[in-house]
Amino acid sequence: MNHDDLPSDLVGCLRSASRVAVLTGAGVSAESGIPTFRDAQTGLWAKHDPMQLASPEGFDADPGLVWDWYQWRRKLIAESNPNAGHFALAEMAQHFDGFVLVTQNVDGFHQLAGSEGVLELHGNIQRSVCSKTRKLIEPDWLARHADARPPPSPHHAQGLARPDVVWFGEALPEATLDAAFSAAGECDLMIVAGTAGAVQPAASLPFVARESGARVLGINPETTGISRIAEWHLAGPGATWLPALARVMSNT
Ligand code: APR
Repeated sequence: MNHDDLPSDLVGCLRSASRVAVLTGAGVSAESGIPTFRDAQTGLWAKHDPMQLASPEGFDADPGLVWDWYQWRRKLIAESNPNAGHFALAEMAQHFDGFVLVTQNVDGFHQLAGSEGVLELHGNIQRSVCSKTRKLIEPDWLARHADARPPPSPHHAQGLARPDVVWFGEALPEATLDAAFSAAGECDLMIVAGTAGAVQPAASLPFVARESGARVLGINPETTGISRIAEWHLAGPGATWLPALARVMSNT
């Protein structure tokens, strides 16, 4: 796919944009082999509901099971790599006065691909924190207690290690969320890639951008709730369309 396949008004919009905000979801990591959140869980985890596993109630009910699920996801991520879509977003940032990447993903692939200042709305699976104090737990502590599922916390007698991600029913990091809404309100163009747009408050960001006068571009094999406010919908994978957008910028 190259930029000849892009609508000419979208090419014009990209070339004239000053401030761009991007919202990504699990779909942009699909080409890295990371199942999207709503993909049927595979293998051992097929019988478990991710909505239950990714919740404080699920962790309280069976901390070992939830810890094992995240260890399985961490292994999947460790055995995979960012894809062309991640690298395209990292490359595009340099071509705009303002470029803010907001992600719902917890795999850290945007940073691995070179993106800076990534706003991680739902945290990052690579970090672990104390279940009581939310203080960061260093990897060498976890390594020393690797046989415990989950390891105990060094910060609190009743604390356990848990992933530093936002579970269903938990609050998002306030400063990160504020920065994301500011970016949405100030951008000329919002690119929404690989998200079903089904989970709040992230799903509101494109609507805030639109209401603030930004143009919205959706990238997804399927149409979503965001498609109706998107001026352009590029139907297909992020790993195909995002590099096409980056080529527009590098060919100017
Ligand atoms: N490229 C782009 N989009 C894709 C691709 C792809 N290769 N493959 C699938 N998609 C789209 C799907 O069509 C779907 O719309 O990615 C979206 C993935 O949707 P979800 O699995 O719901 O993931 P996401 O929207 O990121 O979920 C948001 O909700 O589940 C919680 O905390 C979790 O961060 C997650 C949040």
